[in-house]
Amino acid sequence: MTEQMTLKFPVPPPRGYSRRVYQRRDWDDGPVIDTREYTNPGYQDWLNLMGIACEAIEEPGLILETGTGPGHLTRALLNVAAVKKSRVVTVDIDSLKWHEINLQDNPNLEVVTGDSVEWINAHEGDFAFVLLDSDHRKDHVLAELRALKGRVKRVAIHDLNMTPHAVHIREALKEFNHDWLELRGEYGLALVDMTTEVVTEGGYIDG
Ligand SMILES: C[S@@+](CC[C@H](N)C(=O)[O-])C[C@H]1O[C@@H](n2cnc3c(N)ncnc32)[C@H](O)[C@@H]1O
Repeated sequence: MTEQMTLKFPVPPPRGYSRRVYQRRDWDDGPVIDTREYTNPGYQDWLNLMGIACEAIEEPGLILETGTGPGHLTRALLNVAAVKKSRVVTVDIDSLKWHEINLQDNPNLEVVTGDSVEWINAHEGDFAFVLLDSDHRKDHVLAELRALKGRVKRVAIHDLNMTPHAVHIREALKEFNHDWLELRGEYGLALVDMTTEVVTEGGYIDG
């Protein structure tokens, strides 16, 4: 017998991100002999992002996501925005993505088509929190970080762990002279302290 449990959020996770709890029985009326949990790695990042952002945001403000893509993490940020009385702006160089994310009706969301670095440089004002998930090549990540310097305290970067992008992002952080405070989850969601330039060892919290 298989039982499924799905956690409820104001903005639900993307399809396929649900947390499933399996209870296996060897025969119909027999006792439960094995219980195991399986969590989609994408869903781990989705949950971790909400936790990291909620802890990091001190006051209501603007949450920025670079790299909207299919909007998976935008959904997590919108839940944070609801809790923190904030708004989300998400920037992607590819305008087609907007039609796929199906969040047009959310009043806390603004979707922008354009290059993230150009948008950050053109935007006036600070950010409550930023998620970097656009072009993960070193030069682009470095340019995003430099454009954000002094305008936000905490930045999360996606894909810093078990992905081909990780090495490039790590190089960008090294050149930027910052390291992550913590790194969670299988694909890797790193929290970067933008207020200090001291390079530390970088903690690791298993997601
Ligand atoms: C890894 S995907 C984003 C995934 C998304 N955050 C999610 O959770 O579903 C990377 C996205 O970055 C966008 N991108 C690439 N270069 C960019 C740039 N220079 N500025 C803004 N977005 C960019 C791509 O079009 C792509 O949609």
